[in-house]
Amino acid sequence: MRFDHPQDNELDAIETASRDEITALQTTRMRWTLEHAYANVRHYRDKFDAAGVHPDDFRELTDIAKFPFTTKQDLRDTYPFGMFAVPQKRISRIHASSGTTGKPTVVGYTKRDIETWADLMARSIRAAGGRAGDKVHISYGYGLFTGGLGAHYGAERLGCMVTPFGGGQTERQVQLINDFAPDIIMVTPSYMLAIADEFQRQGLDPASSSLKLGIHGAEPWSEAMRSEIEQRFEIEAVDIYGLSEVMGPGVASECVESKDGPVIWEDHFFPEIIDSMSTAVLPDGEQGELVFTSLTKEALPMIRYRTRDLTRLLPPTSRAMRRIGKITGRSDDMLIIRGVNVFPSQIEEMVLKQPCLSPHYLLEVTRAGHLDELAVLVEMKPELSDAIDSTRQQCAQDLQHHIKSYIGISTSVHIVASGSIERSAGKAKRVIDKRPR
Ligand code: DLL
Repeated sequence: MRFDHPQDNELDAIETASRDEITALQTTRMRWTLEHAYANVRHYRDKFDAAGVHPDDFRELTDIAKFPFTTKQDLRDTYPFGMFAVPQKRISRIHASSGTTGKPTVVGYTKRDIETWADLMARSIRAAGGRAGDKVHISYGYGLFTGGLGAHYGAERLGCMVTPFGGGQTERQVQLINDFAPDIIMVTPSYMLAIADEFQRQGLDPASSSLKLGIHGAEPWSEAMRSEIEQRFEIEAVDIYGLSEVMGPGVASECVESKDGPVIWEDHFFPEIIDSMSTAVLPDGEQGELVFTSLTKEALPMIRYRTRDLTRLLPPTSRAMRRIGKITGRSDDMLIIRGVNVFPSQIEEMVLKQPCLSPHYLLEVTRAGHLDELAVLVEMKPELSDAIDSTRQQCAQDLQHHIKSYIGISTSVHIVASGSIERSAGKAKRVIDKRPR
């Protein structure tokens, strides 16, 4: 079996391997990871010892369940470099994600980790339909965020011409998309819609741009949002998933021919789904929290990292490896409104079903006495922004009614002025929680 990196546009051998071959590779690599973490990271050694497990207890993949989980808190406790498994001199890059509370989460890569990441991003872009020679416009943020540089190295590895634009300056993004005629854009789905609006503001039709393919991720997005992007730009829009702690973008990525959820690159990451409350491992197909163990990472091996992302594991289709369903949301983003669990992405589906509404929305949670209240702030479609009051009221009522009948919660819907909901150049902020802490 060959596991070398992409030769032009051929698939990597592992993408069509048998389950047995994948399992054998994962087993060898997982054993290496456990030994590497135990030997070189004090924090892992202490945690394994406290749990009474040793890398020698690992014989087959299911044995991973004996090992303790890793969480963001572990990275905070060892801030900034305490979980690195190689000497400082072998770290060639750092990324970090800004936490909501104080210190960022810092991640590190060896030269080989960066190579692996570039290979997996190249594989991801190719799965999305990208090919050597394509022109790629990157609007994910560069810098400490993994989106920009992750996409960049992958696109270069595949043999594409890259425009490293980064986020923001939407007017210029549109200008350069027009002037450079890229085939592919890599950007968060919410910012993609802001770019579409900017095309229209400039009197241009996004559908007549050169773009053929959008590779979108870094935040939850609904199928309705996919259709909106595909229709407005007349492109294929595919889902890419990843997180800094596990690598960055390209942990899993969707195949354009099936568009049925990101394929997990199982030769480098071992997935589990657990019940968030009991932490029991759930069978494939069941919804729960996604957990990853890295299989080849040198600088920052991750053992059973709890992502907080909720989804399920699905059987292989276009590739030999398993897929994840669309991420419904993070367990931390789930709102409990009068006892009903609701994710922003569910409201998003409803908003996008309304022909008069734009996809720009914001949820505001407040508490009146002991009861939580949810307000949905949403803009009309730009071409309807001058609609008379009764039309606006009707749109608000329709949305309220749909949310009530499909999700089962009462909301108040407010139509707000066009452009008043903040457009993010990266991950969109969907919820403002005004409840007292
Ligand atoms: O967002 C990495 C990335 C960059 C992925 C560009 C895709 C494209 P973090 O900033 O560490 O890394 O945030 C990771 O973002 O745990 C999910 O909650 C969310 N997320 C990432 N991709 C998706 C996706 C990058 N396709 C966190 N669908 C993850 C839903 C996603 N949520």
